[in-house]
Amino acid sequence: MAQKLDQIRRKIEKLREQIRYHDYRYYVLNDPVISDFEYDQLVHELRRLEEQYPQFITPDSPTRRVSGQPVEGFETYVHARPMLSLDNSYSEAEIREFDRRLRKLAAGRPFNYVSELKIDGVSLALHYSEGRLVRAVTRGDGVRGEVVTENARTIRSIPLVLDDEALSELISKRRSSPRDRVLIEVRGEVFLSRDAFSELNRERAEAGEPLFANPRNAAAGTLKLLDPRIVAQRKLDIFCYALLVDNEHPFATHWEALQWLQRARFKVNPHNRLCSGIEDVINYYEQFKERRDALAYEVDGIVVKVNQTALQEEFGATAKAPRWAIAYKFPARQATTRIKDIIVQVGRTGALTPVAILEPVEIGGVTVTRSTLHNEDEIERLGLKIGDWVLVERSGDVIPKVVKVIPERRTGREKPFKMPDRCPVCGGRVVRPPGEAIRRCISATCPAKLKAGLKFYAHRRAMDIEGLGDALIDQLVDRGLVKDFADLYHLKKTELMSLERMGEKSATKLLGQIEASKHREFYRLIFALGIRHVGERTAQILAEHYDSIQALMNASEQELEAIPEIGPIVARSIYEWFREPRNRKLISRLEAAGVRMRREPKAVRRETRLAGLQFVLTGRLASMTREEASRLIEQLGGRVASAVSRRTNYVIVGEEPGSKLDRARQLGVPTLTEKEFLKMIGRQ
Ligand code: IVH
Repeated sequence: MAQKLDQIRRKIEKLREQIRYHDYRYYVLNDPVISDFEYDQLVHELRRLEEQYPQFITPDSPTRRVSGQPVEGFETYVHARPMLSLDNSYSEAEIREFDRRLRKLAAGRPFNYVSELKIDGVSLALHYSEGRLVRAVTRGDGVRGEVVTENARTIRSIPLVLDDEALSELISKRRSSPRDRVLIEVRGEVFLSRDAFSELNRERAEAGEPLFANPRNAAAGTLKLLDPRIVAQRKLDIFCYALLVDNEHPFATHWEALQWLQRARFKVNPHNRLCSGIEDVINYYEQFKERRDALAYEVDGIVVKVNQTALQEEFGATAKAPRWAIAYKFPARQATTRIKDIIVQVGRTGALTPVAILEPVEIGGVTVTRSTLHNEDEIERLGLKIGDWVLVERSGDVIPKVVKVIPERRTGREKPFKMPDRCPVCGGRVVRPPGEAIRRCISATCPAKLKAGLKFYAHRRAMDIEGLGDALIDQLVDRGLVKDFADLYHLKKTELMSLERMGEKSATKLLGQIEASKHREFYRLIFALGIRHVGERTAQILAEHYDSIQALMNASEQELEAIPEIGPIVARSIYEWFREPRNRKLISRLEAAGVRMRREPKAVRRETRLAGLQFVLTGRLASMTREEASRLIEQLGGRVASAVSRRTNYVIVGEEPGSKLDRARQLGVPTLTEKEFLKMIGRQ
């Protein structure tokens, strides 16, 4: 018996080690080596064993990232070393002055710099004792922060347990302190990627909750939520940039500390650069000033740090900021302009969204003409009137937003805006449920809702119907050819050819794409239905729990709520969606049209060599047509997109490649020759 238990304990430990490794590959390196399915199997097995043998559960098991309990409030903690702020500089002259100052202080002793991106998030200190995460503390006022350990534990790129080898390496450098008394402190910047931020705000707008102004506010707000279960859903991430052992620098240089962090499996920004002098630093700045939009997260400048830790200590700090580091900020992405008008758009769920029409203004090389105002509460919060001068901000490729009104520029001729009581598209009734910020058109036949729903259904991440663009959807709905999603599957070539800009060739191609969408993975269908609160991730979770739409349709609210990661609001929304007779009819019409309504068989799911990877093809291939290559990639679990974006993993380059290759180079997306691609899939 004891032997068997021992075996089980070892098995549990091994599973944890495997899961930790795959978490690291996925969340830190962005380079998974197994499919989601295989990963889920490991977690599932560990959960099963832990349930059966609860005596082996430890708080740092990967299954325990989310504690079940909200906390009452946060304790505070005094930082052993204050978490300082940084002095800002905005020009090359200022940064050269910084360098001159330090060289004078160094009095001839050589030193160099490390340049890092200044991540627009909030700083966090992670404390490890005996190799385990014991505490996470926010910056607070720099001296005293709040203890948010349970929330930090939900950030999957934060190791709960330190890599043994890396730990030993660090401790061996400190003979004086026994292993169990060493306190390792890792500091970093917690942030939300642009994608995670937009998704969060989209959900909040839909739920009528107040929006976050930017990813930084969202990250700060999330880190201080009292319920770690909500934090876990928000996809916070971290880049680590500082290391202290018993409050001292364990390495002679900052660069070595960064490398140790990497070895210890912390997420360290890949763009950090060792710079031999200030020229290098300026170069780095110029480079990232141009590239900042291509990053998946927001950065507002660079941070320049003296590399030698002894010199850092010697140069010291003022009350507010260290002397050995400085922020060099990128130019602001703001401009002032006037609100010409406010129009109202109707979305998929019938939500009425006010949109500001702006006097065109250039911000960072882009002409901005509109800005979403999200909902009427937002207009009220801003105190916005038509005709107002406003400050507009554009960050990355996110939709520009109105930051604030400039009341000093009012003339008295500004007009207040009032949300309409009727749907501006169909004239139907509009309701605003109590407690919600959003007015919705409740007409079942509102063409605006149908159009937006179809756009969502056809989206690349949903049913992925390439060629079914906005203009086409507008025509299909306006002409009465499509009254629900299922009608797409009954479109005829002649009907399509009667539409503007639709020749026989593109009609055939579109029909092929519509046909192909019948066979998309099951979760995509769940996502594509556009059930409120069911995003891509939730759809995947549902598809893991239910093997068919029938099973999902029959699930009770309680049953749905029992699924980890699915809360009561989501459960209710799903349950109610399937109670609506019109929706049930839609499902059966889709089924009759031949759309896949069940989870794909395991054998197919196992073809995962390219799982999670997105490819783009350009140029002529020698051994196959592009269509054949696309099919092959999809069979192996990969995806093919028509345009290169930050999400593209590889661009396969054939002969006479087009502009997609330039785009790939611009975004730094790796390219593959045909040969390399064939090798990757084991065909050569
Ligand atoms: S170093 C004492 N490195 O910027 C040195 N900070 O304006 C201060 N930040 O409070 C920290 N990216 O929250 C450092 N690569 C980076 C950073 C970074 C973002 C934040 C950090 C700090 C603030 C200062």
